[in-house]
Amino acid sequence: MSSYRIALNFEDGVTRFVECKAGEKVLDAAYRSRINLPMDCSDGVCGTCKCRAESGEYDLGNDYIDEALTEDEAAQGLVLTCQMIPSSDCVINVPVSSVACKTEQQAFIATVAQVTLHNDAAIMLELDVDTAAPAPVFLSGQYVNIDVPGSGQSRSYSFSSAPGDRRISFLIKRIPGGVMSGWLARAKPGDKLNLTGPLGTFYLRDVHRPLLLLAGGTGLAPFLSMLEVLARANSQQKIHLIYGVTRDLDLVLVEALEAYAAQLPGFSYTTVVADAASSHPRKGWVTQYMPEDIIRDGHPDVYLCGPPPMVDAVRTYFDTNGVVPNSFHYEKFTPNVALKKSA
Ligand code: FES
Repeated sequence: MSSYRIALNFEDGVTRFVECKAGEKVLDAAYRSRINLPMDCSDGVCGTCKCRAESGEYDLGNDYIDEALTEDEAAQGLVLTCQMIPSSDCVINVPVSSVACKTEQQAFIATVAQVTLHNDAAIMLELDVDTAAPAPVFLSGQYVNIDVPGSGQSRSYSFSSAPGDRRISFLIKRIPGGVMSGWLARAKPGDKLNLTGPLGTFYLRDVHRPLLLLAGGTGLAPFLSMLEVLARANSQQKIHLIYGVTRDLDLVLVEALEAYAAQLPGFSYTTVVADAASSHPRKGWVTQYMPEDIIRDGHPDVYLCGPPPMVDAVRTYFDTNGVVPNSFHYEKFTPNVALKKSA
């Protein structure tokens, strides 16, 4: 391989991707892409360029001093971008805003290919990215902002498709009277949409442990993207998804989960409906259906995408039951406002 794709995640949630040639230092690769990462000496002396490598393989370089990067810091995943030479695709968290690095989120245009209503409760929006533009790159789990034509407003949606596909998709909660739901009711194939992104720190890290995925309603979207990535990588890892919804009709795309269960040997899922009047076999909350084998023995990496009370409920459940996940990544969303909050 002659180059690697490096995702630079800025403090403000903006992600930019740069190509790093074999043997090239990250700071130089970013500079070629007109991104000015923090730096002062560029010689491994000042420590100004210190960032955190979230994933990937790399050489730290051997031309820096301990004051710039201590052994402990290196062991924790910190790197000096003026020295770091990647040997695989990497994700790097940059502790300053994109604006401070003289860059910004990217904008692109996509064309409506298909709008599919599921149960009157959710809408699958499929868009094609212009063939003249590069295929959109993002980290599986991230989102974009989509301008709602004619409204002057935008909404945030997680990709439900896999990175690099030209047909991108989003699972959107149908909200009567909602700006995007209203527009989608009139949308036709060929209509254009302006998108900006990718954004967010909620994305699939390197998979070395069992995964526990917790989806609330249309918070299923990023997990569809992650499952597709894992299926294409022939993952053998143990993965369990709990998909909780409010009403029976909110339970959509179960057939897609069924298909992944057939494709991925370690994947299983549970559906839960909160509505007490539901005839669903499992009623209640996702916290009532935690898989003991994964949460007790597996110390899983946990990913949650759902409304803020769900994040709080799961965190309380972990605390009160002495569950210690290996990591806990979450994205809080509220369906009808442009709010996304990741951790
Ligand atoms: Fe000074 Fe990297 S810029 S150590």
